[in-house]
Amino acid sequence: MCGIVGFAKSDCLKDTLDALQLLEYRGYDSAGVAYLGNGEIVVVKRKGSIEGLRRKVGRKKTDLTIAHTRWATHGKVSTVNAHPHAYGDWAIVHNGIVTNYASLRADLERRGHVFRSTTDSEVIAHLLQEGGKKGDALAAIRYTMGRIEGSYAVAALCRYSPNRVYLFKKGNPLVVGKGEGFGCFASDTPALVAYTHRVYKMQDGEIAAVGKREILFWREGETEGGRRTFGTTSLTLSNVTKGDYATYMQKEIDEIPSTADRTYRAYETPPMGWKGAEMERWILVGCGTAYHAALLGASLCKGEAIVASEFDADAMQVDDKTGVIAISQSGETADTLKAALDAKSKGGYLVAVTNVPGSSLTHLADEVLLTLSGAEIGVAATKSYTTQLAILARIAEWLGYRKPTPSPLVPLTSVLSSSATLAEVAKRRWSTIFLLGKGRDYVTCLEGGLKLKEIAYLHCEVCYAGEIKHGPLALVTRKTLVVVVCTDEEALQADLCALSEVRSRDATVAVISPYDELCRAGDHAVRLPDGKGWEQAVGIVPLQQLALWSALYKELDPDRPRNLAKSVTVK
Ligand code: F6R
Repeated sequence: MCGIVGFAKSDCLKDTLDALQLLEYRGYDSAGVAYLGNGEIVVVKRKGSIEGLRRKVGRKKTDLTIAHTRWATHGKVSTVNAHPHAYGDWAIVHNGIVTNYASLRADLERRGHVFRSTTDSEVIAHLLQEGGKKGDALAAIRYTMGRIEGSYAVAALCRYSPNRVYLFKKGNPLVVGKGEGFGCFASDTPALVAYTHRVYKMQDGEIAAVGKREILFWREGETEGGRRTFGTTSLTLSNVTKGDYATYMQKEIDEIPSTADRTYRAYETPPMGWKGAEMERWILVGCGTAYHAALLGASLCKGEAIVASEFDADAMQVDDKTGVIAISQSGETADTLKAALDAKSKGGYLVAVTNVPGSSLTHLADEVLLTLSGAEIGVAATKSYTTQLAILARIAEWLGYRKPTPSPLVPLTSVLSSSATLAEVAKRRWSTIFLLGKGRDYVTCLEGGLKLKEIAYLHCEVCYAGEIKHGPLALVTRKTLVVVVCTDEEALQADLCALSEVRSRDATVAVISPYDELCRAGDHAVRLPDGKGWEQAVGIVPLQQLALWSALYKELDPDRPRNLAKSVTVK
């Protein structure tokens, strides 16, 4: 979603815009920057691209910046609604949602404040001004934190405190970085790795003051600022840039074999303190792609999968014998965090499967199992999905439901080169794409359908192979592509039947399967290698590639699809 970045560094305007560009992948519709110049706060913002913002900003000298990419939630996409928002002595950028902004705004307006935007965020600048009347920036921040409800990560410039950027947060991530003679911060570590690897993830309720030479922190109630121990991020610039690839999505699909292999190997035995064996039942939660991983995980671990936004710990009778596996690439998805909190409140044993160390989910969990995907920058979840499957396979092994297998490296490497037949399919304009599968292959179809929708804007219907004849067949015409996924020999007959049903309605059929009989029956076929226990991880790859190629043929940017952000931090 929205991105925050900023610096306390000599002549840092260009660095700020370069770092902001590294956050583009989160999705945005407007961008802006505020800086201190000659004791005044200057705000430059606009609807549209960061390149456009760069031109508007020009070349100015400053040592203190805050910048933002906005993905509209409250208030339409417009320059005035873009961040930063300035009022009086303050300018702020904000990620999150101020849930009580309407009443705060009404109250401030009664006291003479004039608002410019229709965002929830602007109230933060007004509250800081209201609370800082005595010229005490820290008091102004505490005043503001005491009044806003919801979630926030805020970076603020204050005219009467010209050597520091102030940060405060609750529920949304903020990472502070420290370099030689400068400080910096961002909502996401990838934005900082070109400048420093020394990072500290702020805790909820903390306030920070980032200066060029000194970075101080305050916990609730503290009057004296303290220091923190900064860790070292393992992310490198090549992890977070495209290198020779045209798209992050292609780069990340190509990284599937190595990252799934690394993740599976890393978890041969359960971590110290693993309490899984004491659990009587398992519930798996996630959103989008992570929910699809949860569905497969539930089938491996004999548990139950539920979309995070539908999770209700009370209704599901979660107790201290219930293991809840919360799956989230980002570890920041609001619906998943809410479900995780809910599960914890009923005494559930919370296991986080996430790709981001130090993310909000890791702070809630009793056990953290990190997927080792490296940074996933493309908005579409690709390599993170297969690493999630690798960890879920390990959990099933620890619970005695699955035997250890060789790592998925070999079949995943082999499948990468066998999908080329789908490039032809991607060129055609389909009115609808049906994805058919049975059992676990149905979940692969759900995930493939999500990729085709979100990246290539194609209308997809996902259907159990045996269900198509019970109604959905009415939608199948000669303009329909039907993709049949079959990795289970027992599903072969049902899939062959479904295939002939759609064939007789003149649909074009693409088959993704290791079985000759089925592949021969399709107009196009991706012959899968022997999955060796990794059939679902293998089966999704051709569908990810189909989505990517379809987007590229439509001249869409698969890394930045419309209406979807990399991490959805609103409920
Ligand atoms: C799909 C996609 C989304 C995410 C979902 C959950 O490609 O990216 O559906 O999977 O928003 O995100 P995380 O895993 O970060 O919780």
